[in-house]
Amino acid sequence: MPDTGRTDATKTLNSPSDSSVPLIVVRPNPGGFGAEITGLDLAAPLDPETRHALKAALARHAVLWFPDQPLSHEALEAFTLTWGAFGRDPYIKPLDAHPHVLEVRRDPDETASVFGGAWHSDWSFEPEPPSLTILHAKVIPPTGGDTLFADGRAAWRALSPAFQAMLAPLRAIHSASRPYGAGGFYAQEKGRTGMTILPSPEADRTTTHPLVRRHPLTGEPALFINPVYTLSVDGFSPEESGALLGFLFAHMTKEPFVYRHRWAPNMLTLWDNRCCLHNATGGYDGYARVLHRTTVAGDAPMPLKERGLN
Ligand code: SIN
Repeated sequence: MPDTGRTDATKTLNSPSDSSVPLIVVRPNPGGFGAEITGLDLAAPLDPETRHALKAALARHAVLWFPDQPLSHEALEAFTLTWGAFGRDPYIKPLDAHPHVLEVRRDPDETASVFGGAWHSDWSFEPEPPSLTILHAKVIPPTGGDTLFADGRAAWRALSPAFQAMLAPLRAIHSASRPYGAGGFYAQEKGRTGMTILPSPEADRTTTHPLVRRHPLTGEPALFINPVYTLSVDGFSPEESGALLGFLFAHMTKEPFVYRHRWAPNMLTLWDNRCCLHNATGGYDGYARVLHRTTVAGDAPMPLKERGLN
C-alpha cells in the first residue's frame, strides 16, 4: 500500500441514487494532493459518468492511483485514450508493436542510474508537453523504487504575493539536452541500462514556457519548471537565473508539497504534468522493477494574465 498517511475520508463521485453505476471511491491524501481510486475495473470500457468523475478527481488531486488493475498493453492503450490522444515520446524506444507504450525497466544487475531519478515534469522541453503520464506497474521490488510527486500548485500558493508578481510574467528555457543530448547524461550511460534510450543532437533544441502556467481545465496557477529540463530564465544572466531557479527548485520540493508513492504490482498511477513534478527513487539494487508508461498529448502552457495571480 502506498505510504499516504491517508485519513478515512472517502467519497463517491457517482450518483448514489443510480444503482446501475458502480461507485467510485476516492480516498484523498490528507493534504488533498494525490488520491487513491477504487471501485472500478480499468480493463472495461468506462461510461461517461465514470470518466467525468475521474476527470474531476484528477483536477482536484493531480495524482491518482488505482490498485489491483491487471491490464494488457491494449487495455492500457484504451484507458490512455479515454483521456485524450497519445503524446509524443521522443528519445526512448517503445515496445515492439506498441509504439505508444514505453517500458520503464531496471534489471537486478543493472548499474545505470535510475530512469527518471531526478525531479522533472515529463517532456517539458516539448512545445506542447504531455498533459498526463500513466504508469502501470508489472514488477515491483520488495523495498525501494517509490516515486515522489511534488505539487506545483501548492508551491505557488505558498509564495508571497510580491514574489508571485515578480515571477508571473517570466519565461523559462527548457531543453532535453542534459539527459538526451549527444553529450548528455544517458549517452554516457549507454549499454548500462535495460532500456533503449536514443540520445540525439535534436535534444539540444530549446523551447520557452511561462515559468508559472495556468491549468487549462481548473485555471489554477502552478510553477512550471524542473531541474532536469529547465536550463535558465529567459533574459536573466546565468548567475541570476541559477539563484532564482535554485531557490524555486528547493522550494517546490519541500516536504509539505511532496507525496511519496509506494507501488504494488498491477497498480496504475496517473499524474498531471501541468501541475506536478515527479522523481523516481532507487534503493532496490539486486531486484527488478518494470512498469509500462504512456502519455496523453497536451497544450502549449498558458501564462497567467497580468491581473488575477491566483
Ligand atoms: C518516469 O519518470 O516516468 C519514471 C517514474 C518511475 O519510474 O517511478
